[in-house]
Amino acid sequence: MSNRSHRNAGHIGMNILRKKGLQHSSELKLAASSFETTSHVITVSDCLELLRQVPDNSIQLVVCDPPYNINVADWDEVERYVDWAGAWLREVERVLAPTGNLVVFGGLQYQGEAGSGDLLSLIHWMRQHSKMLLANLIIWNYPNGMSAQRFFANRHEEIAWFAKSTKYFFDLDAVRKKLDPETLEIYKRDKRLNHENLQKGINPTNVWKIPRLNGNSKERVGHPTQKPKALIERIVRSLSYPGSTVLDFFAGSGVTTRVAVETSRHSISADIDKEFPTYISRHLAQLQCDDLLSPPVNYRLLTDGDWSEHPVFSG
Ligand SMILES: C[S@@+](CC[C@H](N)C(=O)[O-])C[C@H]1O[C@@H](n2cnc3c(N)ncnc32)[C@H](O)[C@@H]1O
Repeated sequence: MSNRSHRNAGHIGMNILRKKGLQHSSELKLAASSFETTSHVITVSDCLELLRQVPDNSIQLVVCDPPYNINVADWDEVERYVDWAGAWLREVERVLAPTGNLVVFGGLQYQGEAGSGDLLSLIHWMRQHSKMLLANLIIWNYPNGMSAQRFFANRHEEIAWFAKSTKYFFDLDAVRKKLDPETLEIYKRDKRLNHENLQKGINPTNVWKIPRLNGNSKERVGHPTQKPKALIERIVRSLSYPGSTVLDFFAGSGVTTRVAVETSRHSISADIDKEFPTYISRHLAQLQCDDLLSPPVNYRLLTDGDWSEHPVFSG
């Protein structure tokens, strides 16, 4: 049976563009691969204060891991949660480029605890108030978590991926899952499958098995709800391209900045917590150690006063 999902419409559109000799937004990465040093704004700021300073249509990817309103820390209690979230969601739509993407972390299982706000309410808000498209609901499946007696122990969180328009950027090749040689040979026997794509790897699907960070993980920099680097990296590599700008205004530990540095994206990161710059410096210290094994990356940090040198603010 043919696949009637929106991806078919995407393929048809790509073929039309190719026939006309035009480039689709997903091919922008080729054009942007020539710069060398990336710029990264690091600021202690309220999310809305920061967002008001960001120009229209200037951001390729917003990584948004908001407070879930479940009281895990002092910052995790917000009154009138959905109204508050609506204010930053409106700003996100304004600052995203036409090719831009937004990912929002959350959980549908938090609705009881969060009262008025969880990811389901944010998706509902987007349906009512925004023109952005829900491209995927990604299930982040982790093997490690709390036990439970009165229900099945929870082993996933959801990530809602919204695209600003149908011209959204998506680089599947950057995140394909490599097949081991034996499995590759078995798959190749299936005539329906494209051999060139199989060689590059398979689609990782919208269920991502990535462990949560354990208490003693080497990646930890001290933030209580730090997300694993592997998770953020899959998002950044697939939904933005080298030389574009990634924005994270609930930056927490600053893992998004670290991934942006490592993957040659510019970034803007803010958090209301004064400890934020300390967490970032720990991430960057880890990066220098890792650099012994991988090619060096050139980046500069822009803190208060010198933001104007960031590509997004310098225009
Ligand atoms: C779930 S954590 C983000 C964790 C981050 N993704 C990571 O992996 O390290 C949410 C963060 O939002 C920050 N925060 C809460 N209210 C904020 C606000 N109004 N403006 C900016 N940051 C805020 C908190 O300080 C906290 O670090």
